[in-house]
Amino acid sequence: MRLVVLISGRGSNLAALLSAAAAGTLPARVVGVLANCADAPGLETASAAGVPTRALDHRLFADREAFDTALAEAIDGFAPDLVVLAGFMRILGDRFVRRYAGRLINIHPSLLPAFPGLHTHRRALAEGVRVHGCTVHFVTPELDHGPIIVQAAVPVLDTDDEAALAARVLAQEHRIYPLAIRWFADGRLRLCDGRVLLASVQSDGGVLIAPQLVAV
Ligand code: GRF
Repeated sequence: MRLVVLISGRGSNLAALLSAAAAGTLPARVVGVLANCADAPGLETASAAGVPTRALDHRLFADREAFDTALAEAIDGFAPDLVVLAGFMRILGDRFVRRYAGRLINIHPSLLPAFPGLHTHRRALAEGVRVHGCTVHFVTPELDHGPIIVQAAVPVLDTDDEAALAARVLAQEHRIYPLAIRWFADGRLRLCDGRVLLASVQSDGGVLIAPQLVAV
């Protein structure tokens, strides 16, 4: 299965996918990495792994629609089966999202629908939640919404600061993103009428309705 990964920064989730693919635990290949800024550190991670990269600077486009169109052309050049947002910090327009319906996924550092948007760990600490985590979901036009594929929950400790909580969540991101993509690659996961279908491994061939909650 061919993956295109979209990033804007560090690229640790990208690195987790590349490692899982290299280790043979993810039956997929990252065929291209795209970023909206040429200095995204994750581009170097991709290059070091021999993956072709392209940077499309959103500031050089007249409007969101023009950027989305160029981005879609770049993506389609890699002929992916699945488009993976991994810390991609641009809002994608409706047309773009519809074009990749059912094969566009995102990871978000909170237990959605709590804390969509930015600074999720800071906000989780400020609200005093005792449980926090991360979510992999299919992308819909509404930011950080969309049918949930899998979540991982972590405790919030009294001693936590933003960095400590972020690190605990990130470790889980690196676990559930390859997991969700493996389900997709295995043909077990799909979006059907706006709901996530995850075929179970039970011998009766039954079908489970996700979301899946992975406890730690
Ligand atoms: C992650 O926390 C991800 O959930 C969010 O952006 C961050 C990207 O981190 N969407 P990285 O670039 O994968 O290290």
